[in-house]
Amino acid sequence: MHRGPSRAVGAATVVLALLVGGAVAWAVARPSSAPAPAHDVPAAAAPSFTPPPTRTPTPTPTPTPTPTPTFDLAAHSTTNPASPWVVVNKHHPLDPVDYLPDDLVTVATGEQVRSEVADDLRDMIDAAADDGVTLTMQSGYRSYAYQQQIFGNMLGVYGREYAERLSARPGYSEHQTGLAVDLGGASKPACDFDPCFATTPEGRWIAKHVGEYGFLVRYMKANEDVTGYSPEAWHLRWVGRSLTAQMAELGVSTLEEVFDVDGGPDYR
Ligand code: DAL
Ligand code: ZN
Repeated sequence: MHRGPSRAVGAATVVLALLVGGAVAWAVARPSSAPAPAHDVPAAAAPSFTPPPTRTPTPTPTPTPTPTPTFDLAAHSTTNPASPWVVVNKHHPLDPVDYLPDDLVTVATGEQVRSEVADDLRDMIDAAADDGVTLTMQSGYRSYAYQQQIFGNMLGVYGREYAERLSARPGYSEHQTGLAVDLGGASKPACDFDPCFATTPEGRWIAKHVGEYGFLVRYMKANEDVTGYSPEAWHLRWVGRSLTAQMAELGVSTLEEVFDVDGGPDYR
């Protein structure tokens, strides 16, 4: 039997195998060429992938578009003297020229306006009072005959050219619609009906707030050529809150512009 050498070879083989196996195990555990891991976090076991169950996608509902509200500038007449949006200027007299509103209400001693104006007027005067500003009612509805008297006085005092910039001829005044008012101020009554009214607390309050109550400062420096009148910080024309809001959004200050109606300083 030749057991010795074969036993020695067997042992050497085992040793060699152990050495090689150890070296391989060491190399796998820490390969000399690989960088050390940044963190000592054991690698997570690779998740087994289970495909999700197939399902029919739920269709995304198509949103119903919200319609943009369109402001209807034709909702009221601009020629009917009883309309809240009537345009009265030197090209457009009242028709009939001696029009008389049939729903005038008294809002101050001797002063009347159309009934639909009264609530907004009261709200506005109350709001000003809450802000410490006292607005006074100077002039509301005027008849054709009364406007004739006023215009005649203006002619006598100022001469025709200037009077035409300050006062409307009878039949051409917004006051005859019952939709216009002239307001004064308690802080400086001497400025009532005067350009200095614009600089009073009342004039400044009006310039800032009247649109909130459906009124326009009808005659302004910026639109003198369109309206045909000198600025009147006290002359307010009621058109309703929806139109004043729309005009503010459009950035226009005159009825002529928003309704595309002609006007200007000369009578047609
Ligand atoms: N002062 C304005 C223009 C009127 O007389 O109606
Ligand atoms: Zn006026």
